[in-house]
Amino acid sequence: MVLNDEEDPIQLERTVDQILKQFYFDNDRARAVSDRVVRDYRRGLKKETNHKATIKMLPTYVTNTPTGRESGTYLALDLGGTNFRVLLIKITPGDNGTKAKCEIDSRIYKVPGEIMRGTGVQLWDHIANCIANFVKLMDITVKTLPIGFTFSFPCLQRSLTKAKLLYWTKGFAASDCEGKDIDQKLIEAVARNKDLAGYDIRLAAICNDTVGTLMSCAFEESNCKIGLIIGTGTNACYIENTKNIEMLDDDVRGMYEHMIINCEWGNFASDGILSDVITEFDTAVDKSSPNTGSQIYEKMISGMYLGELVRLVLVRLHSLGLVFYDEDVETLQKPGSIDTSFLSLIKSAAPDDIVTIQNQISSSLEIGAVKYDCDVVYKLCQAISSRAATLCACGIVGLVELITADDGPGQNIVCGVDGTVFRMHPTFAKNLVRATNMLLPKNTTVDYVLSHDGSGKGAALTALTAQSD
Ligand code: GLC
Repeated sequence: MVLNDEEDPIQLERTVDQILKQFYFDNDRARAVSDRVVRDYRRGLKKETNHKATIKMLPTYVTNTPTGRESGTYLALDLGGTNFRVLLIKITPGDNGTKAKCEIDSRIYKVPGEIMRGTGVQLWDHIANCIANFVKLMDITVKTLPIGFTFSFPCLQRSLTKAKLLYWTKGFAASDCEGKDIDQKLIEAVARNKDLAGYDIRLAAICNDTVGTLMSCAFEESNCKIGLIIGTGTNACYIENTKNIEMLDDDVRGMYEHMIINCEWGNFASDGILSDVITEFDTAVDKSSPNTGSQIYEKMISGMYLGELVRLVLVRLHSLGLVFYDEDVETLQKPGSIDTSFLSLIKSAAPDDIVTIQNQISSSLEIGAVKYDCDVVYKLCQAISSRAATLCACGIVGLVELITADDGPGQNIVCGVDGTVFRMHPTFAKNLVRATNMLLPKNTTVDYVLSHDGSGKGAALTALTAQSD
């Protein structure tokens, strides 16, 4: 920072702090958010108020968790971000009552932007082509292939294998898919694909990635009651008593005691309920997104948006002469020029490790930063990622409130978690735990357990668990 004669560095820092203050959360502020989330969860569960809820609390038809003794071979599909994965999953029973083993082979296929935002037929044909390629690659000769499909978008399910896409999230916009049955779309695309002729491909289960994460964590830990994703998008699911799920038909409620609810919490606050928390930068991120007005909570928490938030604040600070003084900020001006991995890399450095921070700023933004700039960038990344972790804790503590309202207080609840932000960001998990503990009632604990590849094996486990019911 080159100071003009009349500029006082302490004053500058104060102005930066005032802007960053908008992202800070104390206990009261977090509690107020958590209370509002709970109110919306309850609205989503009730028939009369579901239409007003921003969190839709979608029934999944998953009514049991794995015992750890399942076995079977499945093809699993995982669509939910810029990559599509096909996996071959073999679950074999353990010897003498020990836990089952899970062997996985898989291949990642890109979903190019033009396919994400092209026609539905292009998207489903691409998926069928990837399946055909994988079947050939793995030399799969068995002709009857049960499929577990992790489809990580909001769906209205009518059974374990019937799901209608409500709306796209995370930058997907393929036409003729919203409001349509995705099971149907997949089966039609498989039927169109000549390389798959002769294969009997059957959907055995469709599930959300949060559900896959809960199932794969429950495979290891029997008291896992919540599944959480903090990746490109964010969402959670949990085990609810069917008597509380008014959106289910009475006969279904009578048949099962429990069902996993896919909350679709990313859409929380799309009714403006967090107007006292939302900053002008959040509003700008929302405006420039393909789904303006929806997924407001997701846009404050998940990987698809955190980098852009940091960028917008830096642009503002620069325009006020508070950072990168006299530097060429052409790259910084470009939307999307800061990726969420930037936050992880900056936060991996010690606060006084200027060289690492300088290198990062220089390689991402082509800006020569001085110590003062590094301090600002570091503080900003910290403010935005710890706000994300705190907001996420508000949602989890809200779920704990629902669970303990029925099952009683004093519980040790396990929450299976996955997603790039949780896995890669050096302090996200720590902040999430700290904020959760700050909000939890005494005598209740939440253990966040990294769930290994729930999006991959979760759908296969879901199918297997349903089969053995
Ligand atoms: C988005 C999707 C949701 C998914 C989450 C995490 O919020 O709508 O279904 O679980 O991203 O991938």
